[in-house]
Amino acid sequence: MTSHQERYDNWAPDYNKDVAARNYDGPEYMVEYLMELADANKVPVSPSLPDFKILDVACGSGLVGQMLQKKGFSHIDGTDLSQGMIVEAHHSGAYQTLMAWINLNQPLPFFLHGQYDLTVCCGVFALDFVEPKSLSHLVQVTKPGGTIIMSTKTTYYDTYDFAGYYQSLVETGALELVDYRMNKPYLGTEADGHYWVFNVPAAQEGAA
Ligand SMILES: C[S@@+](CC[C@H](N)C(=O)[O-])C[C@H]1O[C@@H](n2cnc3c(N)ncnc32)[C@H](O)[C@@H]1O
Repeated sequence: MTSHQERYDNWAPDYNKDVAARNYDGPEYMVEYLMELADANKVPVSPSLPDFKILDVACGSGLVGQMLQKKGFSHIDGTDLSQGMIVEAHHSGAYQTLMAWINLNQPLPFFLHGQYDLTVCCGVFALDFVEPKSLSHLVQVTKPGGTIIMSTKTTYYDTYDFAGYYQSLVETGALELVDYRMNKPYLGTEADGHYWVFNVPAAQEGAA
């Protein structure tokens, strides 16, 4: 068991209460940002699209899923390293399928690959939870033509070479940057979050 898994298993029953007290705005900011881009037709994201499937990676107690559910999305699956957090996500009632013990530092399970129209990951590229290369694991589970929205804490972005990593994926054609916002609400009163929106390009016909 990793130290993060143990910490979140222990914290899970009090997580929602504690982060509310610390003004954790990440989930709300991320979903509002996503819907603004959707309304502007910058991302193919809508609850009215048929069979629209979302994966919330490291979903925690389900705060992002609940926000998405309020926007009308009905098929939301979730994964997390911590079983305790997955139990809380189950109580939220926002998810169809939930999977515990899924470590984002490793490729996500094969049967999830290429399955999701939208992959969300909030509050996870922070501290030392995951390495920047975990972005490639989000790409794997997203359908060609699908969208990824994720946050990086400003301190994470400054410490790890997240920009260098996502740019390397853009250069290989695995990812396109659609939009981003830096220094926006995340935790507490500081604007300490960056938000990133990517498109996973559809395979080009005739491409080698
Ligand atoms: C700050 S919480 C964010 C939870 C949720 N996404 C939200 O915004 O409320 C971080 C979550 O990441 C999970 N986590 C930490 N390291 C992880 C890893 N390597 N792989 C998958 N999940 C991880 C924790 O269990 C916890 O649920």
